[in-house]
Parts: sequence; structure tokens; C-alpha cells
Amino acid sequence: MALKIPFFLLLVFLLSFPSPISSRAVPETSQTGVVGVVYSMSTAGLPPPKQVADALVDAGVSRVLLIDTYPEGIAAFNGTPFHITIGVNNSVLPLLAANRSEAIRWIGDHIIGPNVAVGTISVGHDLLSTYIALYKYLLPALRNLQAAFTTMGLDMSLTTSCSYDIICPGFPPSEAHFNSSVAETHVMPLMEFLTETSSPFLIQLYPFKLYNSDVIPRASTGLATFDSRPGIFLTDPKTGLVYQNMFDAMVDATVAALDKLGYPDIRVVVAGTGWPSEGTDDQPEASPVIAAEYTERLVSRLSSGAGTPALPDVTPVAYIFSLFDGPMVAGMPTAWNWGIWTKDMQQKYIVDFASAANVGGRARRTLISAAAGWAAAVALFW
Ligand SMILES: *[C@@H]1O[C@H](CO)[C@@H](O)[C@H](O)[C@H]1NC(C)=O
Ligand SMILES: *[C@@H]1O[C@H](CO)[C@@H](O)[C@H](O)[C@H]1NC(C)=O
Ligand SMILES: *[C@@H]1O[C@H](CO)[C@@H](O)[C@H](O)[C@H]1NC(C)=O
Repeated sequence: MALKIPFFLLLVFLLSFPSPISSRAVPETSQTGVVGVVYSMSTAGLPPPKQVADALVDAGVSRVLLIDTYPEGIAAFNGTPFHITIGVNNSVLPLLAANRSEAIRWIGDHIIGPNVAVGTISVGHDLLSTYIALYKYLLPALRNLQAAFTTMGLDMSLTTSCSYDIICPGFPPSEAHFNSSVAETHVMPLMEFLTETSSPFLIQLYPFKLYNSDVIPRASTGLATFDSRPGIFLTDPKTGLVYQNMFDAMVDATVAALDKLGYPDIRVVVAGTGWPSEGTDDQPEASPVIAAEYTERLVSRLSSGAGTPALPDVTPVAYIFSLFDGPMVAGMPTAWNWGIWTKDMQQKYIVDFASAANVGGRARRTLISAAAGWAAAVALFW
């Protein structure tokens, strides 16, 4: 049944926005909750994957991003209810790029279990920034996997995961664009592929990293950690949109960068975000207390179902980096601990995964874009 909206209400709605609105339908991916965890199986000393998978079910987690996967590890997720994303190691790229037969063989050896519901395969990590030499394998690998899926009758999203380093400048969101040294040559062909296959764009966003740079000179820890006290916000001088936390600003910057390149409809998924509980001595913000604040507030912010200032209809989806201490974030000292669970699977913080499990993304989105005149008025607040 079509939803009838009284005309006057529609008018009030339209008039209440000072900027032009464009509505676009985007294909709905199967949404199962908005919070996931990044689980690297190859960290030494972890419990067996089957125990981890069971504990994740008990904790009410609804999405898992497996990195550094191996077949027995994936098999541990047989029959679990998660939306599973598999991160394919950079070292596998040349093989997948070789030809479709190799891709079929790799899928058979790694992905196909009797009962593993893989939703997304993310091929390669940070290829647009750190591992640019491997980029040449990316699209051939994606196309071979796509052809393999067709042959094998499989249906999964195919994408890659990037670091926020390729977005510049880091703030304000409306100014954001992809680094021009890769935008047209590398990012655009990838976005063509993602559009063609209705796949999401995966990006890792660390307010911790941005906060520790001089990208936002006036940024406070509060802005980075979802502190909701009054006075903690930044205004985008061009759009007038008000940002109460850096996570939302970074999501919108990614959307703005995609928009500038001509791909406003690609769904952005945050494939890694978190806060270290331990770091080097010169970095007191890497503490258990602040890590707990970030993680707990991130989950409640996502569970609220609210969209971002520029995309009020789209609840962001994010994977917490990471389940256990161990694997490092590119550009961060290896010793830092990002895990939310200890190695004996005790929660370091109380993270309410279950409340995030029933929130889904929405099919229609409204992109609020800049209105030049209005922007001039609010620039004073920046
Ligand atoms: C991923 O690749 C790196 C080297 O590129 C390797 O050291 C590591 O063992 C690989 N992980 C897995 C699970 O294959
Ligand atoms: C596919 O690539 C592999 C590795 O380069 C090669 O050994 C094999 O002969 C190729 N198969 C076909 C059908 O081209
Ligand atoms: C863009 O990428 C190039 C190559 O990685 C790098 O040298 C440059 O500093 C980047 N530009 C910005 C603005 O981040």
C-alpha cells in the first residue's frame, strides 16, 4: 500500500530545509544490524574460531568482518546468523587477478562451506593509499571473482577496503574529495565497478587518528568520543550542517568525496573504527577509559538509528576494530591495543550489541547538499 503524505506536510518538510534536496533510491543491501566487529583469526594465542563464533552469537553481534581468513576459520562460522564479510589478504590479489579459473578455485578452497552465509567479499586492504603497487590487480581480481560467482551461481557483494587517508582534507565534510593523485586513475574505475554490482564502499575511519593530527586544530576529545554535552560541535561552513562528533563528519566527508566524483549513490560502510586502550607514553588518550567511552557511545549512536547530518535517512553501518588486541592499523604503532575483548573472551567494555542488531539501513536516502547563500551566514560559527 502506498503511503499517503498530506500535501501540506510535504510542503512543510520541503520548506524546513534551507538547501536543495535530491532524493535517490539506492538498492537495499540485506541489512542485519548496524554494528559489527573486525575479527582477525591469525593473532597468536586466541581461542579456537568456533568458540569465538559461539561467543559472538551469545553477545548479540550481527555482523562480522573476518580478516586474514583461513578455511577452518571460515568453517567455524557455519550456521551462524551473522552477515559475514571476508577480507581477502593483499597477498592473494595476483592469484585472483590471473584468471577466472583461479578465482573459482580460490572460492572453492576458501569460501564455500556447507552453510556459510558470506554476504560480502572485500578484496585487498588500503590499496589506494599504502599498497598502491598492488592496485593494478584489484579490478582484474574483482572481475574474475564476479565471473566466478556467475559460473558458480553465487550472489555476494564484491568490494575493497580503504583508509580514510585518501580523503582530503579531513574536514569540513563538504570540502572533502579523493586524493587527486588517485581520484580519476584509481578510485573512479573502482566506483564504476561498485555501481555496476550495487556493492558498498568500505572505509576505515579513526577519529582517534584525525584527532591526533592537526586536521581539526580545535577538535576536542569530546568531539572525537561522542560527548553529548552542549558546546561540543563543529559547523561545516559551506553547508551549515552541525557535527556533534567526528565519526559523522568523516562518514559525510566520504559521501561528499564520492558525490564529487559522480557516485553519490554508493553505500558507504565503515569497515573499521575504534579506539586504543593502550598506546605509547606520549599518547594519554590511548586509555581504557576513553576507549570504553568511544566504543560504548559509538554503539549507542548507531543503535539510535539516526542518519548523519548530510544523509539523515541513512543509518551508518560500522565494524568495530577490533575484537581482540593484536593486528595493527596502518600508520599506527603496532604495540597499541585496539581490542574490545580480552583473549579469554571477557568484554573489556560493556558493549550493547543486541540493541544495534534490530536497526537496519533504509532504502531511500536524501542527500542534503550545499546552499551557497545560507552557507555564508553560518560560516561565522566555524
Ligand atoms: C596475509 O599476507 C601476509 C603477507 O602479505 C602474510 O604474512 C600473512 O600470513 C597472510 N595471512 C594469511 C592468513 O594468509
Ligand atoms: C590461470 O592462471 C594460472 C596462474 O597464472 C595459470 O597457471 C593457468 O594456466 C591459467 N589458466 C587459464 C585457463 O588461463
Ligand atoms: C595524495 O597521495 C600522494 C601519494 O600517496 C601523497 O604524496 C600526497 O601527500 C597525498 N595528498 C594529500 C593531500 O593527502
